[in-house]
Amino acid sequence: MILDVLEGKDVERTPVWLMRQAGRYMSEYRKIREKVSFLELCKTPELACEVALQPLKAFNLDAAILFSDILVPIEPMGVNLEFTPAPVIANPVRNSQDVQRLKPVEPKEELPFVLEAVRLIRDNINVPLIGFAGAPFTLACYMVEGSGSKNFLEIKTLMHKNPEAFFELMEKVTESTYRYLQAQIDNGCSIVQVFDTWAGILSPSDYKTFVYPFVEKLVNNLENAHVIYFAKDSATFYKDIKKLNCSGLGVDWKIALNDAADILDNKFVLQGNLDPAVLFADQKTIASEIDRIISEAKDIKGHIFNLGHGILPKTPVENVRFMVDYVKEKTTDA
Ligand code: CP3
Repeated sequence: MILDVLEGKDVERTPVWLMRQAGRYMSEYRKIREKVSFLELCKTPELACEVALQPLKAFNLDAAILFSDILVPIEPMGVNLEFTPAPVIANPVRNSQDVQRLKPVEPKEELPFVLEAVRLIRDNINVPLIGFAGAPFTLACYMVEGSGSKNFLEIKTLMHKNPEAFFELMEKVTESTYRYLQAQIDNGCSIVQVFDTWAGILSPSDYKTFVYPFVEKLVNNLENAHVIYFAKDSATFYKDIKKLNCSGLGVDWKIALNDAADILDNKFVLQGNLDPAVLFADQKTIASEIDRIISEAKDIKGHIFNLGHGILPKTPVENVRFMVDYVKEKTTDA
């Protein structure tokens, strides 16, 4: 059904899945994490598959998403990665020499566990499997900052003081990400989502010059799958994003879906956009927020219900179940 929506077909109701649907808010996930570290989990296909299936067993979701992390493919590029649980990189990329040392990934040789997880999950579900990767700029942010960041001074300094090194880094990350996503598609993902979590830290002009060309190159080269581009805080970039050749666009909660569709000339299927914090409220409030989103989506090209960003670790499980069932019931009646 989610594929039908992405193909622009009429569907009997709105499909629903959740960004980061597998994770710490589920006791089944925490139980596995008592035994293995997060990176070990990502690198063990049987466990990654088990964890990816957990939310599908618990809720009536319309898609599975590969279990991994956007940072997993930067390790074979030559970056040391740890999770504490937030990501930390001991050897951040800070200058031209650091960029020169990076090598594009060979997914089959260096990330076989991800491709094996894709095949295992694909063989165990009857809904589409979504693959994913970080967008080039969001990955570059982690590689240069070495962790999450408040003002992103390192990446912005590289961008403005040494644009040549910045562009070379973006080229390398884009090529790696292209290979990585195409390999996920070739192994069984029918949709891939590109997470540009940090794009929103930039001015529209810097987004246009330093980021958009690489998103375009990545998205336009991928074959045989639908692409969903999710850039957080990106409504001020829609003039550029509108030119992308992808089927779906993830939208956070800062803009109403109908307003987003207006600016985007109703060109894309939109995915979103419940504020993940609303899942901490009572079910009456959750229902009324879902009602609002569904009514805002009624005239757009197509709607995939989702959160406006990843689900938060302490989210009450019963509210997730309520949300999924309510979206289905509500849009089936409509
Ligand atoms: O959607 C899914 O179920 C697939 C799994 C998935 C994870 N990370 C698992 C994860 C996906 C799609 C991601 C994407 C990701 N990772 C993004 C982009 C989306 C977003 O939310 O903005 C980013 C920025 C990351 C980087 C990252 N990974 C951070 C900042 C953290 C720690 C933050 C925190 O919540 O503590 C991670 C760790 C991570 N990735 C966990 C999971 C389940 C928690 C690890 C644990 O079990 O301790």
